Amino acid sequence: MEIHRFEKLWFGASLLLIVVLIATIVYGAVGPGVAMVDDSGGIVDPSALTDSENFREPGVYEADDGGYDVYVRAQQFAFQPGTNSPIRVPADTDVTFYVSSPDVTHGFNLAGTNVNTMVIPGQVAEVTVNFDEPGTYHIVCNEYCGAAHHTMRGTVEVVP
Ligand code: CUA
Repeated sequence: MEIHRFEKLWFGASLLLIVVLIATIVYGAVGPGVAMVDDSGGIVDPSALTDSENFREPGVYEADDGGYDVYVRAQQFAFQPGTNSPIRVPADTDVTFYVSSPDVTHGFNLAGTNVNTMVIPGQVAEVTVNFDEPGTYHIVCNEYCGAAHHTMRGTVEVVP
């Protein structure tokens, strides 16, 4: 039986497409990939966040290098600290925020700055910022996290 030349050609082309498609999927699964969140802050058991060393008493702590470490719990529908009491840090100093969530995915965005990260249960989002201007910055949750998502906000006070 004789196969038409064009038929052979298209058969070959469709085989090639299938191979390329499979290669793409394999590359996506085992290749370098794209990290959506900087997880350098480490991981934490979300169901035991209140027992974990750093999130048991979230707040502002002086770091060894002269900067500040700020541990923040983001949960439906508040930042602790931040919502009921402002996070107070000095200007012109490295401030590293460690943010984690015991319930669902939240956002941690400081409006007017480039600080903007997802807060995923089980992961500690780590962001370092140096505020050069004293002032009040608003924390905004920008991931939909439930009925009162739009009320989830807080304040960072940067003092001279
Ligand atoms: Cu938390 Cu939206």
